[in-house]
Amino acid sequence: MAATISIHGMWTNRLAFILAATGSAVGLGNIWRFPYAAGEYGGGAFVLIYLLCVAAIGLPIMMAEIMLGRRGRRSPINTMRALAREEGRHPAWQLIGWMGMVTGFLILSFYSVIAGWTLAYVVHSATGLFVDIDAAGADGVFGALVGNAERLLFWHSIFMALCVLVVARGVASGLERAVRLLMPALFVLLVLLVIYSLSTGNFAQAADYLFTPDFGRLSAEAVLSAMGQAFFSLSLGMGAIMIYGSYLRSDASIGSNSLIIAGMDSLVAILAGLAIFPILFANGLQPEQGPGLVFKVLPIAFGKMPGGVVFSTLFFVLLMFAAWTSAISLLEPMVAWLVENLNFDRVRAAALGGTAVWLLGVVCLLSLNKWSGITLFGKGFLDLLDFLTANILLPLGGLLIAVFSGWVLSRTVSADELALGEGPLYRLWRMLIRYVAPVAVAIIFANSIGLPSLVMGWLG
Ligand code: PFF
Repeated sequence: MAATISIHGMWTNRLAFILAATGSAVGLGNIWRFPYAAGEYGGGAFVLIYLLCVAAIGLPIMMAEIMLGRRGRRSPINTMRALAREEGRHPAWQLIGWMGMVTGFLILSFYSVIAGWTLAYVVHSATGLFVDIDAAGADGVFGALVGNAERLLFWHSIFMALCVLVVARGVASGLERAVRLLMPALFVLLVLLVIYSLSTGNFAQAADYLFTPDFGRLSAEAVLSAMGQAFFSLSLGMGAIMIYGSYLRSDASIGSNSLIIAGMDSLVAILAGLAIFPILFANGLQPEQGPGLVFKVLPIAFGKMPGGVVFSTLFFVLLMFAAWTSAISLLEPMVAWLVENLNFDRVRAAALGGTAVWLLGVVCLLSLNKWSGITLFGKGFLDLLDFLTANILLPLGGLLIAVFSGWVLSRTVSADELALGEGPLYRLWRMLIRYVAPVAVAIIFANSIGLPSLVMGWLG
């Protein structure tokens, strides 16, 4: 029989879960990563594949993760072990949990460094550094920050401390309180920014760029990255949503909650694109700006608008909060596991996990400056971690979760948890999770390592 509560605590109600899961999903992935990935991989076609991946792969996997978490009511490692045992299957399925914990660890290490940029930009904004700044000036400000290891270290350390603080306080009074106010505020500000951008920027060119797919420019790596972006942005494939699901009450509907979370997440990504690209084109900039895109483009707009100092400060504060509510969900699986298995109290578990992540983060930030000469596969350490986690580890985790939920977990359990009856919706989910999601991820993987041309080469 499935447990009805978690030893770590529970969300007080359904809205709290939606806010927390949306808080996890909406973060730097939407506002920092999505626009620059779209810019790097050619715009419209990337955006379309990303949205398709959200709908056909992301949504069913999100439902699966919440379902598994709620059924197991433990950290992802122990949840997977318990569910495998319940089904009489091999304990090796707990590997999904282990892989997830490592992936979360790796993501948080670079995520915290980027979140540190947003903190630095709060101070830049508030001190009026962006007033009347032009493209070259914004480029200079960004370069000066990223090139300075000490400053990056300072902000990275503050951000990690903030994460530890919230996670140490626990589910209801830490995680839940943090997201209640912050998410709606971010949303409102983003909409205001879009309105400003639409009325002053080059909207036609931006809309054309983002929404007119040019499949001729779509490489295998672009498709892989669009899928990776979907996983990263929805927080899927590493147990973050799974553990949030473990704090969800048994009577809440998994399907409709997932739909809301995924819908909000995609909406914020598109809004971020609509806020940034009109300004970018109006200033004659190119979309291929790399990870600095948001940080180089938005200050130009803020610098020109009336009340820009206030708006700019507010925007980067909220972006920092969005990063914060995502980062805590990256730390939570680790902390829950330390509490369950090593009998740590939450405070010590959060401090230990946070310190370990902080250390790896230091390597990430050094790869941007002092160690920028050291590259692997043409990428610095931070870029490499970003690529490896988003494009490989998260989709792989998602694939395993889909296989477990569709093929290992018995039909009665998934039907019972999802509570969709035996009707068309349940059958659709089951078809997506058994066939569509695993096959799509496998094909995209195979394609990105050039398997089809290798096979053609052998055959021909
Ligand atoms: N979804 C977050 C974002 O878009 O910024 C990042 C993230 C959080 C990724 C949690 C993965 C995760 F498990």
